[in-house]
Amino acid sequence: MAEHPAYPVGLRLTGRRVIVLGGGQVAQRRLPALIAAGADIVLVSPEATPSVEAMADAGEITWERRPYRDGDLADAWYALIATSDHDANARASAEAERHRVWCVRSDDADQATAWTPATGHSEGVTVAVLTTSARGRDPRHTAAIRDAVVEGLRDGTLVAPHHRTRTAGVALVGGGPGDPDLITVRGRRLLAEADVVIADRLGPRDLLAELPPHVEVIDAAKIPYGRYMAQEAINNALIEHAKQGKSVVRLKGGDPFVFGRGMEEVQALAEAGIPCTVVPGISSSISVPGAAGIPVTHRGVAHEFTVVSGHVAPDDERSLVDWPSLAKLTGTLVILMGVDKIGKIAETLVAHGKSPDTPVALVQEGTTAAQRRVDATLATVAETVRAQDVKPPAVIVIGAVVAVGPSASE
Ligand SMILES: C[S@@+](CC[C@H](N)C(=O)[O-])C[C@H]1O[C@@H](n2cnc3c(N)ncnc32)[C@H](O)[C@@H]1O
Repeated sequence: MAEHPAYPVGLRLTGRRVIVLGGGQVAQRRLPALIAAGADIVLVSPEATPSVEAMADAGEITWERRPYRDGDLADAWYALIATSDHDANARASAEAERHRVWCVRSDDADQATAWTPATGHSEGVTVAVLTTSARGRDPRHTAAIRDAVVEGLRDGTLVAPHHRTRTAGVALVGGGPGDPDLITVRGRRLLAEADVVIADRLGPRDLLAELPPHVEVIDAAKIPYGRYMAQEAINNALIEHAKQGKSVVRLKGGDPFVFGRGMEEVQALAEAGIPCTVVPGISSSISVPGAAGIPVTHRGVAHEFTVVSGHVAPDDERSLVDWPSLAKLTGTLVILMGVDKIGKIAETLVAHGKSPDTPVALVQEGTTAAQRRVDATLATVAETVRAQDVKPPAVIVIGAVVAVGPSASE
């Protein structure tokens, strides 16, 4: 008999009866999607795996603890036949044929009247992959194609522009500390869909090189600001491009809301009536120490970590940081933007009670090829920074956690 390709279709099963015969691994794998589809599922099986049993306990399926018997499929719209008894499966699929119920067979794809595709989901789309014929069935291959498509859509390496739902607006994307692999999947996808990208100096610059040539990439530091403050000029650039109907990504280093002025941009966009979505990022405050072998907490060593901006010196009247209180904390201090002021900061911490021997590590350009770690103590850090020519961007970690990892120097 000539083998025709299967006809793909999406079944809308909400409230419709689906019979599942057999409560083993196959049912366990397939039931979640049937439950998600809203089907009225009746499982017929003397036994079930603990996970399937939990679905019954939760009321997601109705479980009849008995073997299959003739007549079970009479009211079904769809059946999954997956018992370990081949004869029972054959009888059930003969019944399905009689009642014209589409049925999947776990033990015999040839006898089945339906096949389950390898499926995955991405942004409101279901990707379903079927082999063309029973003879060519290769479930690993279909699963691999599904994975390639879904992963590609998620990470932006496969770009399928939205024609109906894509709206102009701004996405504030946290790009992570610098390594291009450390952006979120959502951030990467939005980047791949952008018309305009306004990027900071810090963050995953390498990703910009991958963007297609039609994407306009703007260096935030180079936006002319004339009578505006730099931040206002950036806000205006975001608003202007979005008003032109473009899809704009504001790519920021780390997380947009950790010393990133992200909320100022959100507020400016809200005032201008521009839709804005915020995508969190991996902050350098945790990831950069981690990349250099320093955990910001460690059992029995530090039960808290505090992230502080060191961009103004402790004695500067603009400082909002209570340095004397920080000196009394026993946990980890993580200082961002603190290279220039570390001498004054260390002095203040020691003056208010921290031991001069407290370990300090400076991690420069963390997670990039140029990453470098320099170790010191509160007593020596000012001199070490000078002698070793430590430059921003660097994350400074102060506390006993600096010494817990296997390596302690550059
Ligand atoms: C304006 S703050 C922005 C922080 C960012 N929003 C975040 O969550 O990581 C910039 C500071 O972050 C730190 N920083 C960011 N990326 C870094 C990296 N790759 N290596 C070392 N420090 C980094 C430095 O202290 C730098 O001065």
